Amino acid sequence: MILVTGGAGYIGSHNVIALMNAGYNVIIFDNLEIGHIETINTLKTIKTNGKLEEFIKGDLQNFDDINSVFKKFNIDTVVHFAAYSQVAESVKNPQKYYFNNVYGTLNLLKAMLENNVKKIVFSSTAATYGNPDYIPIDENHPQKPINTYGKTKLMIENIMDDYDKAYGLKSVRLRYFNVAGADSQNRIGEWHEPETHLIPNILKSTLEGGKTFQMFGVDYNTKDGTCVRDYINVEDLAKAHVLALKYLENGGETNYFNLGTNEGNSVKEVFATCENITDKKIPVEIKERREGDPATLIADNKKAKEILNWQNEKTLQDSVKTAYNWEVKLAKLFKGNL
Ligand code: UFG
Repeated sequence: MILVTGGAGYIGSHNVIALMNAGYNVIIFDNLEIGHIETINTLKTIKTNGKLEEFIKGDLQNFDDINSVFKKFNIDTVVHFAAYSQVAESVKNPQKYYFNNVYGTLNLLKAMLENNVKKIVFSSTAATYGNPDYIPIDENHPQKPINTYGKTKLMIENIMDDYDKAYGLKSVRLRYFNVAGADSQNRIGEWHEPETHLIPNILKSTLEGGKTFQMFGVDYNTKDGTCVRDYINVEDLAKAHVLALKYLENGGETNYFNLGTNEGNSVKEVFATCENITDKKIPVEIKERREGDPATLIADNKKAKEILNWQNEKTLQDSVKTAYNWEVKLAKLFKGNL
């Protein structure tokens, strides 16, 4: 049985589907602060090789909540997504991030050790690298995060190394670049309140009641003046987690991998792709740079390809198409509340 923390959230829920497709039975642990019960209800209806065994509402900051899950179920491996992930908020309110992300994970690891569970796949981030010294960024690039969110994820990576040395806890840390897109069957998708990410914000502005899209900064030293990012499709990303899990099941040592496409797209290119796919002229307002945005972030993804045998397959167009289908569905569900 696989325990997925944060399985009601955007990336977690797509991973639950991938795990079930691969034949795993899953327990979801989520406090529903960011994740949605509607997502859980949808996941329950999906029939695949594996199944959603149970959803448990609980908080990682409460040790008994998480420890009781290990007591009740026979958990083999943990896939850990539960975390806050907004960069700007993390700088304004670091305490919130250190408690939830770091202390919450310490509780999770403590419960794992008490119950002799020694394998974990962890959702880390490109934000652990900070401003890049070189592009594309490989896994040997120094980790010097410039915001609290990235610092919390790096601290956890370091804690996991110490726990391996001392207790034999094996971890795979997956450092995501910019995750995009939605379930190709349009059952689930990205659903943040408030939404801060580029693609959903562009797409929301095409819908009735949506705010005009704001483009943050057109004077960067890049091909067209806007920031360049590496957009990795959420279903491709989920496949990497299944491979990481199998790697640990096969006795793999602690390791870490970038998950990206090796390609960068500028904000203007993403915007043009959205206009193209929606076949709409999208309203846009040019704004100042957003604080803390590096000009360019692109992953070197060779290591994941070589060691995990992973391959990213979907294009930016695929991600925008599925994200758009999902935004239309979400808007119908919550008409007027975009
Ligand atoms: N952007 C806009 N308008 C918007 C939203 C974003 O112009 O409404 C721009 C940003 O300024 C940036 C680019 O689009 O240049 C991408 O921004 P996102 O907020 O979509 O993504 P980030 O690159 O800031 O951050 C993402 C994750 C973080 C993670 C980081 C790691 O959200 O959690 O990647 O690189 F830390």
